[in-house]
Amino acid sequence: MVRAAAVAAGLLTNWSRRLHGDTVRWVSLDYAFPHSADDEARRLELFQQRLDPLTIRRLERLGVGRGDSCLEIGGGRGSISRWVASRVGPEGHVTATDLQLDFLERIDAPNVEVVRHDIRVDPFPEESFDLVHARAVLMHVPDDPELVPRIASWLRPGGRLLLEEPDFGLWLVDADQVWAAHPGSWHGAFPNGSVSRGRSLLAQFPQLGLVDVGADAEVDIVEPGGPLAEFYRLSLQAIGPRAVEVGVLTAEEAAAIARRPTEPDFLGCGFVHIGVWGRRPPSP
Ligand SMILES: C[S@@+](CC[C@H](N)C(=O)[O-])C[C@H]1O[C@@H](n2cnc3c(N)ncnc32)[C@H](O)[C@@H]1O
Repeated sequence: MVRAAAVAAGLLTNWSRRLHGDTVRWVSLDYAFPHSADDEARRLELFQQRLDPLTIRRLERLGVGRGDSCLEIGGGRGSISRWVASRVGPEGHVTATDLQLDFLERIDAPNVEVVRHDIRVDPFPEESFDLVHARAVLMHVPDDPELVPRIASWLRPGGRLLLEEPDFGLWLVDADQVWAAHPGSWHGAFPNGSVSRGRSLLAQFPQLGLVDVGADAEVDIVEPGGPLAEFYRLSLQAIGPRAVEVGVLTAEEAAAIARRPTEPDFLGCGFVHIGVWGRRPPSP
């Protein structure tokens, strides 16, 4: 009860009221990684270094053509928006969205439009895009069964959808007990944070009415000393204070988890990076 109340209190302090013209909307700031944090630019840079080659392989396989109109959801630091913009050329267009626009607004490309858009609630017109992509965004929002079908409705006939989400499935059952405590504490600290988003995409895609549906995955094996260990250390450090505040970890436990990927006797499983794709059937 105490823990649940603390979580609820934490959540309440993280909601703010914003005015958009005449409408009043409640915008959740309950996101684990504010871009304004000291290490966030570095953390996202390490994430991009790890995942851009995988994402680009998947996108190249799906096909990104000159002149395409593309949507990048939750673009973060912007590397994939930039890559897609270079592929679609001046006759194409990239709409890059996020709730935090500071990094995306640094993109200097005439065919990129940066838009504040909350994937949980904000719309796009149906059949707007030839390509829709998101990476490591849906894991941070509630697992609403309407969300992925809504995203798929934004595809034009023949348009491609690629969703890539980390999954904590192996990490949850890692043999290292200190390390294996993280996924549960992340979800306890950020209840919208999913430990199984990649797997839930696998279950959802066959129901979307898409064709050429496929999926693959890569696992992070985290070794001390490398850039991946730095990425995990920064991520765990960022989550620690909230986990302690809501009572899912003690300060000592949070520090031990964040230290673990840098210790010489460590070798463990991190995320399984699941990618799922499909294509809207062309018009008859
Ligand atoms: C882990 S980062 C991933 C960034 C980028 N997609 C990448 O893979 O490099 C998640 C991004 O999603 C954004 N985000 C979180 N909640 C969102 C929401 N409800 N709508 C749109 N973007 C959101 C965050 O601000 C952040 O930039």
